[in-house]
Amino acid sequence: MSKTIIISNRLPLQLEINNNSITAIPSVGGLATGMKSVHSGSDSIWVGWSGLTDENLDSKSEILVKNALKKHQCVGVSLTEAEVDGFYYGFSNNALWPLFHYFMEYTSFEKETWETYQSVNQKFADVVIDNLEEGDSIWVHDYQLLLLPEMIRKKKPDVTIGFFLHIPFPSYEVFRTIPCREALLKGMLGADLIGFHTYDYERHFLSSTQRILGHEINFNNVHFDNRIVKVDSFPMGIDYDKFHDAAQHHNDKEKKEKTEIQQEIDKHLTGGNKAKLILSIDRLDYTKGIANRLRAFEYFLDKYPQFKGKARLVMLAVPSRSDVPQYQILKNEIDQLVGRINGKFAEVSWTPIWYFYRSMPFENLIDLYTSSEVALLTPIRDGMNLVAKEYIASRVDKKGVLILSEMTGASKEMSEALIINPNNFEEIADTIKMALEMPEEEQIKRNTALQKRLKRYNVEKWANDFMEALEGTQATLKKFS
Ligand code: UDP
Ligand code: G6P
Repeated sequence: MSKTIIISNRLPLQLEINNNSITAIPSVGGLATGMKSVHSGSDSIWVGWSGLTDENLDSKSEILVKNALKKHQCVGVSLTEAEVDGFYYGFSNNALWPLFHYFMEYTSFEKETWETYQSVNQKFADVVIDNLEEGDSIWVHDYQLLLLPEMIRKKKPDVTIGFFLHIPFPSYEVFRTIPCREALLKGMLGADLIGFHTYDYERHFLSSTQRILGHEINFNNVHFDNRIVKVDSFPMGIDYDKFHDAAQHHNDKEKKEKTEIQQEIDKHLTGGNKAKLILSIDRLDYTKGIANRLRAFEYFLDKYPQFKGKARLVMLAVPSRSDVPQYQILKNEIDQLVGRINGKFAEVSWTPIWYFYRSMPFENLIDLYTSSEVALLTPIRDGMNLVAKEYIASRVDKKGVLILSEMTGASKEMSEALIINPNNFEEIADTIKMALEMPEEEQIKRNTALQKRLKRYNVEKWANDFMEALEGTQATLKKFS
């Protein structure tokens, strides 16, 4: 029976070795959390990096790793420390990630990391080809593997390949600055279908392709190498029922069954000390606008002192890419800001910010989503932002207010949220006030519309739409051959 081969750098689980035994922990990030639902409900295998390097493994642990991955229908691509440095920290996260998010000042192109990026993409291609059987389809994900579609196509000209980019595709004026821009575009164009979260990213890609490679483009079809490559937008959804049902279950729980975090939250909500919770959850990444958010929250408390003791920012920042210098600098900046703001405003019975620097299990995310009256998500740039969707899906009583940056892909589908410019502190401060004071009927009205849309365009529908469009490219091919 034919299967889909999903490929991404990060597998849905990360392995750790301790005393010859292997532990698997769930990966963080929208790609992994979203695709996990698609993967588990289908006949597919997932090819990617386990999080371990060859230096961590001997021949015995290699077998353990292989078996641990196999249990989860995953196949590992093994990488050395030098490869992780050049391919992952280097070219992917020190060049492509900042540039695609318009942080050109953080972008550094180096010949060595580009070479490693190419050789590691080839390594991924070889593993895919080893696992490929007649009739299989291939679905490649994200910026770490832009060259993969072309590399697979070279060895297997007739195989069906889809590619989806989970981050923004920048405008031509930014993309053109990349030294190896032709190679990256040609790499992606090895696919039959290229998908983006929004129409804007799709347009930017098409305009870069036309202006850099000079290919003919008809509507959203690129004529390339005697093939037609279809380009389209598919806004990624979430597993709506998973979040909604978990939130419902959470609300039904007896007191003794509650998690420690929930008990702690409950304690602070009783005894006449009820501060409304304003939630933010992100990986600790400069694209997420965390430092700006803290400054805007400080400005809010200065501008509207009546909210001192009445509102609290609950900020979960998940450690991410901590070997890249920009992430270390940001971590220090955030530590300092939180310390300074808490020091400036704290009272004996109230601290303005609860800051958690760690990842949390699903159960605790549900605690936070269900307990917070407001979600404040202020990315400077974000391909989609699934946290915004998860917050709304978890509001079973339909109350709660989402404040969302206009720079996220999600804002295009969530116009009932309070949409803000993340660089405008005045607007953020006023919007926080508006959210905290919004009448319940208005909250319910906005969230009813949002929930209806999120339930309908869930992650399953997203994956089905993409796969149907991918099959459609084959039907078009047959018609013209
Ligand atoms: N998430 C998680 N553990 C945490 C915090 C967040 O698994 O401790 C998940 C969250 O539920 C969401 C994803 O990480 O599904 C973040 O996705 P998003 O699209 O918001 O941002 P990304 O990290 O992909 O840039
Ligand atoms: C974003 C990217 C993913 C990536 C995730 C976590 O969602 O689009 O490709 O996996 O962040 O980042 P990490 O570098 O830890 O894989």
